[in-house]
Amino acid sequence: MRILMINGPNLNLLGLREPDIYGTQRLQDLEELITTHGEKLGVSIKCLQSNHEGELVDWIQMAFDKYDAILINPAAYTHTSIAILDALKAVGLPAVEIHLSDINTREEFRKWSYPSLYCEKTIAGKGFQGYIEGLEYLVEKYSK
Ligand code: DQA
Repeated sequence: MRILMINGPNLNLLGLREPDIYGTQRLQDLEELITTHGEKLGVSIKCLQSNHEGELVDWIQMAFDKYDAILINPAAYTHTSIAILDALKAVGLPAVEIHLSDINTREEFRKWSYPSLYCEKTIAGKGFQGYIEGLEYLVEKYSK
């Protein structure tokens, strides 16, 4: 099974960025954790991060035929991007939405999520563990 993990804008600054909310570990730590956990589960993980909405859309489109499922934290685009929602719907791959912080207990504008209209699951507020849970959910349900 091949899984694409996509992280959106400002997540390249993990570790530096608002550590009280997002923690002190870096994106590289997250990518290593998920890749290693994927190996244990027998799946290969490709990790991508971009600050650009169109690039995220391109990668979701590219996943069609190349990956079996998507793990995505669209970051701030969660709350604004119909394009990301439409791309997920267009490719039709199983997808899980992850947020490090609990978007439901922060500012009002973070409570709305476009990708949640498509994603099978939204996991928020569990830090890196949320990615592990999302990965395990996808592997359990979809690995053949
Ligand atoms: C986030 C939550 C978003 O509201 C925010 O814009 C982010 C990160 C999270 O992982 O908690 O950049 O997706």
